[in-house]
Amino acid sequence: MSRVEGKVAFVTGAARGQGRAFCVRLAEEGADIVAVDILGDVDTVLYPMARQQDLDETAKAVEATGRRIVTRQADVRDLGSLQSAVADGLAAFDHIDVVCANAGVASFGTTWELTEQSWQDMLDINLTGAWHTVKAVLPSMVEAGRGGSIVLTSSTAGLKGMANIAHYTAAKHGLVGLMRTLANEVAPHRIRVNTVHPTNVATDMILNDSTFRLFRPDLADPSQEDMIDAMTGLNALPVPWVEPRDVANAVLFLASDESRYITGATLPVDAGCLVK
Ligand SMILES: NC(=O)c1ccc[n+]([C@@H]2O[C@H](COP(=O)([O-])OP(=O)(O)OC[C@H]3O[C@@H](n4cnc5c(N)ncnc54)[C@H](O)[C@@H]3O)[C@@H](O)[C@H]2O)c1
Repeated sequence: MSRVEGKVAFVTGAARGQGRAFCVRLAEEGADIVAVDILGDVDTVLYPMARQQDLDETAKAVEATGRRIVTRQADVRDLGSLQSAVADGLAAFDHIDVVCANAGVASFGTTWELTEQSWQDMLDINLTGAWHTVKAVLPSMVEAGRGGSIVLTSSTAGLKGMANIAHYTAAKHGLVGLMRTLANEVAPHRIRVNTVHPTNVATDMILNDSTFRLFRPDLADPSQEDMIDAMTGLNALPVPWVEPRDVANAVLFLASDESRYITGATLPVDAGCLVK
């Protein structure tokens, strides 16, 4: 129950899904949390983003573990909003030791059909948003001199090509480049930087109509059930997707001192998707 005792974690995309699971899992093991989310929609994304009540749910779940949480609305495209969330987190907790750059969106289209706005929103949120996140937090981490751990949420699409998501795949590969550079830059400060690469995860990002239709274009009105075989086919292990807590367990390990000499690593949580 104390694998990250005394640490403070800054988590983006924290209102639901994997971000919420990271907050709760880290809190269960002793961390206080600074949680941010956009709490509003993105025009080029066909499913809704989280809302204030989702972020409140995350806060309740963290507080139920006995840990503290600061929640803020922030769009990772807006560096200033992240910097003020960091300032509020530091005012409450004095230091930040763990960063989970997790906020992200999904949309679909062949490379030649994607609109410029869809491409741009994807790169702005899934790549530049992660850079903004580390840029907002790192000055305080370096100054505090306590070391730390940064985990960027990439994807199996960060390590292999996948049809219909060129913009997503480019952004998630970009995170690996960012991680590899940053790992070198901050190592002298005993700050580690790694990426996690989940296969499909059971969250609102994939459990929505636009994904059902992508996986089952042959059906007029496909459901989650109709997608199971196609998604299972992506993984070596016989499961269609993993749960947010499976990824949270990997993030917890990377956040904790158990991984104190692991930096620059690309850690799959992928049910064997990448080995297939
Ligand atoms: N679900 C999957 O199958 C899957 C697989 C691999 C990687 N990922 C990645 O995992 C991360 C988390 O996604 P999830 O599966 O929990 O989906 P999700 O949609 O449930 O959660 C994403 C969260 O990010 C927030 N968000 C979106 N844009 C934002 C912005 N501009 N600023 C701040 N917050 C923003 C949303 O409101 C939401 O709460 C994403 O980076 C995603 O690309 C997801």
